[in-house]
Amino acid sequence: MASLSEVRKTPDRVSGLPLVGNLPEFARDPIKFITRLKEDGGDVVGFSLLGDQSVLISHPKDIERVLLETGKRYSNGKSGTGYALKTIVGNGLVMSEGELWKRQRKLLAPAFHHQAIRKYAGLIVDYAHDLAQSWHDGAVRDIHQDMMTLTQRIIMKALFNVDVLNHAGTASEAFDTMMHAIDAEMRGLEAILPDFVPTFSRVRLREAVAYIDGLLTEIIEKQRSEAGDEHDDLLTMMMDARDDDGQPMSREQLLDEIRTLYLAGHETTATTLSWTWVLLSRNPEVYARLEAEIGQVLNGRTPTAEDVGQLSYCNAVIKEALRCYPVAWITRRVALEDVEIGGYQIAKGTSIYLSPWIVHHDARWYADPDTFMPERWLKDKSELPPREAYIPFGGGPRICIGNGLAMMEAVLILATLLQRYRVSVLAEHEVEIELTGTLRPKAGVQARMMERAL
Ligand code: HEM
Repeated sequence: MASLSEVRKTPDRVSGLPLVGNLPEFARDPIKFITRLKEDGGDVVGFSLLGDQSVLISHPKDIERVLLETGKRYSNGKSGTGYALKTIVGNGLVMSEGELWKRQRKLLAPAFHHQAIRKYAGLIVDYAHDLAQSWHDGAVRDIHQDMMTLTQRIIMKALFNVDVLNHAGTASEAFDTMMHAIDAEMRGLEAILPDFVPTFSRVRLREAVAYIDGLLTEIIEKQRSEAGDEHDDLLTMMMDARDDDGQPMSREQLLDEIRTLYLAGHETTATTLSWTWVLLSRNPEVYARLEAEIGQVLNGRTPTAEDVGQLSYCNAVIKEALRCYPVAWITRRVALEDVEIGGYQIAKGTSIYLSPWIVHHDARWYADPDTFMPERWLKDKSELPPREAYIPFGGGPRICIGNGLAMMEAVLILATLLQRYRVSVLAEHEVEIELTGTLRPKAGVQARMMERAL
């Protein structure tokens, strides 16, 4: 690798307007903008949002290095992303840095270890069954909303031993408000207004966070009142944890962590499943092969954690859905020192953007990148896409803590529901992408459920 003194090049910068830079273009259609950036400027290209220094990096090897060096040469980059994320996740795991992040990650990690998540398989399947029970033959439903309710129930039961079924609808609305507020801060009026200006979106955001906190406070109080009872869930672990000085986690920190896990732990998984239903409906041959595998492996019985590894086509379907529609479509880091990326000199303080959407649709790593092809994940090792070109869960120390849980959950939900119903997204229902904090289907996903003979 060249030393910094030998690196002379600075990345080309696309032109933009005075003061706002490329914000208008980014705001109009972010994916179109970053796609054009990469096509015109290559793997390292400069741009500017509101006068800052930004680069988009798109080579998987460069991205891997930046992700691996997060915490050393790069900050996690969330603290500068505006009022909304700060208000939603506070100092929770997505946001925190340094010693606080290390301590909290270490504390939360055991709940997400391979062995620990296997014990959630039963409740995932039970709740998926409950959902199937509420469907009936010929019904047309918004399956995205169904997935949101289901994954909310699962994450809150798995981690905090509480069933939020009765609150899931209103909680979904509150989370929806939060996701739109993130979007507004990125590319709406809020992007150019100081944090103290109480815009409509910010007022609604605060109300939404207060609603969720009310719900979470009830949960914490209930747990407290049951102190002494045997609980081995994450909430009890967090409440029992003590730092080096013997101090418990503050109430604010506790709320931030739970709110973070509640949001991060359901929206992404639900949205991934919603895109999966859309892709399956558009690709009947994939659907048929998936049904065949589920029939063969399960033979009508309820799936268990042991089956997840056997359902290789089902895993490939989810993996491919996450390639086509990586719900966490962009992320950011900030250079803490002058660095070199891909032979270019990048100054300290530069915002570095990397986009799973761009990498996953790059024909250098994926043949027919716009085609949904689960088979690409079932080839011999030598023919698989490069490992570092698949980043739906990020990478390095800040890799998604819930990635194993999300994959197992998605496979078990798909298998359970497919055993009982054939789900067809209505052909006349155009599913558009909406970019809020995540990449999700705009206006839900209308689907018809047809009961299958078991
Ligand atoms: C398909 C589902 C999911 C996707 C696509 C996804 C994606 C991601 C990505 C890309 C990151 C890293 C962001 C960055 O590097 O800036 C991340 C971080 C995170 N995810 Fe997920 N996630 C999913 C499911 C989950 C689940 C089930 C949980 C469980 C609670 C979860 C909790 C978190 C947390 C707490 C972080 C921050 C980790 C840290 O910074 O140490 N996610 N997720």
